[in-house]
Amino acid sequence: MASRVASSDSFKHFEFDATPKHLSSSSSVPSKFNFTNDRTAFTPDSLPIIDFSALVTGDPHQRSKAVHDLATACRDWGFFILVNHGVPESLMEAMFRVVKEFFSLADSEKKQYEAKSASDPIKCGNFNVANTSNQSFTLWRDYLKLYVHPTFHCPHKPKPLWDVVQEYTLITRELALELIKAVCEALELNQRYVDETLKMESSFQMFATNYYPRCPHPDQAIGIPSHTDPGLFTFLIHNGVAGLQIEHNGKWFNANSPQNSILVNAADQLEIFTNGRCKSVKHRAVLNEEKDRISIVVANGPSGEAVLGPAEALVEKDGRAKYCAMKYEEYLESQLTKSRVDGKSILEQQMICSTN
Ligand code: OGA
Ligand code: NI
Repeated sequence: MASRVASSDSFKHFEFDATPKHLSSSSSVPSKFNFTNDRTAFTPDSLPIIDFSALVTGDPHQRSKAVHDLATACRDWGFFILVNHGVPESLMEAMFRVVKEFFSLADSEKKQYEAKSASDPIKCGNFNVANTSNQSFTLWRDYLKLYVHPTFHCPHKPKPLWDVVQEYTLITRELALELIKAVCEALELNQRYVDETLKMESSFQMFATNYYPRCPHPDQAIGIPSHTDPGLFTFLIHNGVAGLQIEHNGKWFNANSPQNSILVNAADQLEIFTNGRCKSVKHRAVLNEEKDRISIVVANGPSGEAVLGPAEALVEKDGRAKYCAMKYEEYLESQLTKSRVDGKSILEQQMICSTN
């Protein structure tokens, strides 16, 4: 879910014959993909790991340790690896099987899911153009994006896609809710206030799958450049091929993960709601020469109706709100249509500078 780089024209590109998939076996990268890109990154000694089962255990001691670890991970990294999450391995495998099938449909068939407008609930494409403040280039990936909650949208082909996406997004929505509750507990926020503000029963959830074909010159193109995500927590799983990098203390790190874990990053609305205590981490998807990579991403937001600013109790503690409030629907809208103003992301536009 690109937030900091999304552009108004980023949804509507579907071209035939020379898609990244077709180009992956050629020896050069056409210039329209060219993106000045240093994909070097450190491999961290360790990344925060959160044991989901400890969060939902009946044992208060285990829970309070897990709640504390979660808040620390969100503060220090804005990122963690979720283990013992209870998503069946068979469901994850089914997800990859069916999205692979989707990506291998004929282009003519996929084209019917091309978006007609930026806010179309089903969007599919290749060749979408991204803009950073000083570059415009084509991303080396094919994708499918769906709005799945509060209303579920999904292509009817391949046949199992509907059921599998529905099951996976329901289960990840429940996980996201538990994580949000735990973060709020760590910050001593009143649960009723949280329920009323975030309105999670009608949470806005997006599903995306990205297909990054292998690239003959991975240093000359990019899957998704550095960005933050718009929601509260984004969940990512991949087909065993590494490629996600996250920024930490000004340096890039490879976010490698154990089999069957879920990579979770804190996103813009969580940073805003917690008045900056949780960091919406910058991340990017880099390419490699050998293997095709597929990621499956679920962005869990508050309700589109939620007007989100920093939680009052935290503003009181901090003496000031560091962000201004905005309806989430409008936030998404401006991300899709306006994106950058004076080179600033929507999150940066919402930041209120300290006058001291
Ligand atoms: C995204 C994203 C990274 C990846 O879809 O927002 O950051 O590794 N994807 O696919
Ligand atoms: Ni992202």
